[in-house]
Amino acid sequence: MSDVDKVSEGRAKALFDSAELSGFEVGTVVGLRQIHKYLFGGLYDFAGEIRTQNIAKGNFRFANSLYLGDTLAKIEEMPENAFEEIIVKYVEMNIAHPFLEGNGRSMRIWLDLILKRSLRKCVDWSLVNKAGYLSSMERSPVNDLELRTLLSAALTDKIDDREVFMKGVEQSYYYEVEA
Ligand SMILES: Nc1ncnc2c1ncn2[C@@H]1O[C@H](COP(=O)(O)OP(=O)(O)O)[C@@H](O)[C@H]1O
Ligand SMILES: [Mg+2]
Repeated sequence: MSDVDKVSEGRAKALFDSAELSGFEVGTVVGLRQIHKYLFGGLYDFAGEIRTQNIAKGNFRFANSLYLGDTLAKIEEMPENAFEEIIVKYVEMNIAHPFLEGNGRSMRIWLDLILKRSLRKCVDWSLVNKAGYLSSMERSPVNDLELRTLLSAALTDKIDDREVFMKGVEQSYYYEVEA
């Protein structure tokens, strides 16, 4: 893992005890930017900033940067009352991919904050296998069933559990960075 990723992982873990966390908005673009800035501030010069370039992964092109502001404004208005709605919103935010890098790691924290507020649950990421997660995310713009099935099986009501949180951060960084 690179030094930048190690520092960022430490930041993500520190979020559990941070007073800043309670000041983060839930389910909004500002809230996602707050998370991104917290994880990557001083590490990426674009920390917390919406991208102005187009990006792609594999064969998938994320939302066009020209309309990203409008796209994000619509996504944050999406409902988050039921699990299915929350997953639809998460998938749309992934399609938007607002940052040049660090979307996956920021967005999983953003998702858990929504799940905690709406359902008093969060994902126990240690139960979500890396290959299965990444393939379900690649599939999700076309069909979110795989992702929904995978994440619903990993939901826990241990929303204030230190170990669930720390292992979740480790798993989240393991999804994204080379050993
Ligand atoms: N082909 C794809 N189609 C849609 N989403 C993808 C694809 N490949 C990866 N993703 C999503 O993008 C995330 C990685 O985005 P990235 O900005 O690199 O974040 P991070 O730096 O935290 O890894 C993955 O966690 C996955 O959810
Ligand atoms: Mg990445």
